[in-house]
Amino acid sequence: MHSDSSSTTPPGPPVWDPQQYLRHAGHRTRPFLDLLTRIPDLPTTGGLSPRIADLGCGPGNVTVRLADRWPDARITGFDLSPQMLAQADKDYAGTTAGGGWLDFQVADAAHWTPGEPFDLIVSNAALQWVPNHPESFPAWIDGLTPGGTLAFQVPGNFTSPSHAILADLCASPRWRGRLGDHGRRYVHILDTADYLTRLADLGCETDAWETVYCQLLTGPDPVLDWVKGTALRPVLTALDGDHEAIDALLAEYRDRLREAYPPGPHGTVFPFRRIFAVARKK
Ligand SMILES: C[S@@+](CC[C@H](N)C(=O)[O-])C[C@H]1O[C@@H](n2cnc3c(N)ncnc32)[C@H](O)[C@@H]1O
Repeated sequence: MHSDSSSTTPPGPPVWDPQQYLRHAGHRTRPFLDLLTRIPDLPTTGGLSPRIADLGCGPGNVTVRLADRWPDARITGFDLSPQMLAQADKDYAGTTAGGGWLDFQVADAAHWTPGEPFDLIVSNAALQWVPNHPESFPAWIDGLTPGGTLAFQVPGNFTSPSHAILADLCASPRWRGRLGDHGRRYVHILDTADYLTRLADLGCETDAWETVYCQLLTGPDPVLDWVKGTALRPVLTALDGDHEAIDALLAEYRDRLREAYPPGPHGTVFPFRRIFAVARKK
């Protein structure tokens, strides 16, 4: 496992900003829709409507897409962030158009185990924040109904300039006293092949793959705007409302991002590698 651990006190969870995160909802939703197409039909246990868990559901805008595929499903989104849960609850909780329902609950995916049988446990762009999540695979698979599926997508772009520059900045003499390793995103992902092996070892029919999305972003400093919703959250949380420091750090980061991702005639190309796994319990 690639794991960057802090040499200083481990930070608390970052404060999320649903509005900032949702600014790039189109590009962020696409991999989830691609993941959905690879999930097999869910078991129909005793004629019951499907039971689905979404781990790290965020503002709920992808969770709700599960109801497009399984209109009568009973879906619960779990997340650690009160800001994200409040947004999800406000926008999506309740009965769905197909007669199912959607609710949101606080849970730490690092310790979550299924409290009831699920037909699908899904997670989009969240497990990279969860240390040792592969250790939970046996419990999650155990909690699936026979024929049920565990499916997830995690970013695989931690060596790309957007993240390398941030890590470099936070470790620089100017910032390392305050930020230490905060800019080094806590990368808790496995290689794609390792995910495949782990899940196949648990007896699942497993499909694992990678896709690089060549995302075309628009507007001024769009890569900075993108990372403000994700990779920068721990850094902004650590700077704790010190606007002078935040402005200074963002200015340095912005200048280096402009060099790494120059705008072209059609916009700014921001390649983004993502890792997918779909594991069906036999
Ligand atoms: C990048 S967002 C993804 C949100 C949503 N799944 C989506 O695809 O738009 C990551 C989410 O994971 C949540 N998260 C991070 N660590 C978590 C943990 N240990 N347990 C539960 N949720 C967590 C964050 O609060 C955040 O809402």
